[in-house]
Amino acid sequence: FPARGVSLLLLGAVLAGCDGQQSALNPAGVGAQSIVTLFWWMAGGALVIWLVVMGIALYATQAHPEAHGIRGARWLIIGGGVIFPVVFLTGLLIYGLMLMPQLRSSENVTLRVDVSGEQWWWRVRYRSEAGEAVELANEIRLPVGERVAFSLTSPDVIHSFWIPSLGGKVDMIPGRTNELVLEPTETGTFRGACAEYCGTSHALMNFAVVVMTREAFNLWLAKQAEPALPPTTELQQTGQQAFLANGCGACHQVRGTEADGTVGPDLTHVGSRLTLAAGTLPTDVDTFKRWIGHSGAIKPDVKMPAFGMLPEAQLNAMAHYLKGLE
Ligand code: CUA
Repeated sequence: FPARGVSLLLLGAVLAGCDGQQSALNPAGVGAQSIVTLFWWMAGGALVIWLVVMGIALYATQAHPEAHGIRGARWLIIGGGVIFPVVFLTGLLIYGLMLMPQLRSSENVTLRVDVSGEQWWWRVRYRSEAGEAVELANEIRLPVGERVAFSLTSPDVIHSFWIPSLGGKVDMIPGRTNELVLEPTETGTFRGACAEYCGTSHALMNFAVVVMTREAFNLWLAKQAEPALPPTTELQQTGQQAFLANGCGACHQVRGTEADGTVGPDLTHVGSRLTLAAGTLPTDVDTFKRWIGHSGAIKPDVKMPAFGMLPEAQLNAMAHYLKGLE
C-alpha cells in the first residue's frame, strides 16, 4: 500500500515524539493493534481522496477548450467531488465498524479490575471470586496474553481511562459503570493517562501499567493482598507514630494498622509503587517528604492538605515509614 509509506513520511515529523510507553502507534495489545491498523487505513484513504480531489481541481483549472464542455465538467464535479469520496469513505466506515465487536467482546475474560478516576488519582481494585478485593492506587499490573475486563467509574467528575499502548479510551462517568476489555500482548511498563479535562490537575493524573507473566503477576497480587509489615527501623516507627498522630489514617488506609480511611489512596504497599502522586513523582524518601510537606505546590488544588508546618524531623520520619511500606 504505497499511500501508507507516503502518509508515514508526512506524519513522521508530527509524531516523532510519540514512541515508547505512551504511544497509540506502538501497540502492545490486541485493541491497540486494531486501532493502529484502522488508523493507517484511514490516513492512507484520506491521502488517496486528497490526491484525487486535488488532481481533479488542478485539471479543472487548466484550459481544455476542445474537449469537455458542460458534460465533462459535470462528470468531474459529481464523480470526483461526490461519488469517489462517498464510496471510499463508506468502505472505511464499514471496515471500522467491523473491528468494533472484537474490541468490546468480554468473552474469555480471566481477570476483572475496577478502576475509579478521582480528582486526581486512580483507585484500582482487584476482585477475586473467593477472597475480598485488593485495593491500590495509580498502578495496574496485568498478566500478558489474557483478556482483562475493566469496570470504569468516577465519584466526582468525568475522567477518561486511556492506556495508549494497550487500547481504550473510555470515559469514567459519575453514576455509571463503563466496561472495557484489554488484552496485552507484550510484557513491559506502559503509561496510562486521564484523557478528559477534569479540573486543575488533569495533566497530573497518570498511572503506570506493568504487563508481566502470569507467575510474576500472581506473586505480585498475593503480596498486595497481604497487610503491611510493621516498621523495622526506629526512624520508621517514629514515622508511623507521626502518621497516625497527624490524622493521616482518617483519609488513608494502611491495612494491618489502625489507619483505615477510604477518602484517599490506600497506602498499604505505597513504597513498592512505581510513582507517587499519580505518575507525577518517583517513589523515594525525598519525594514522599516533598509531597507530605507541599502537596498543593506539586499538584495544584489537590484534596490532600500540605503538612509543611510539621518539624523537618517528623516529615523525614514519615517519608521513611511510607517508603518502607513495600
Ligand atoms: Cu481526570 Cu482528567
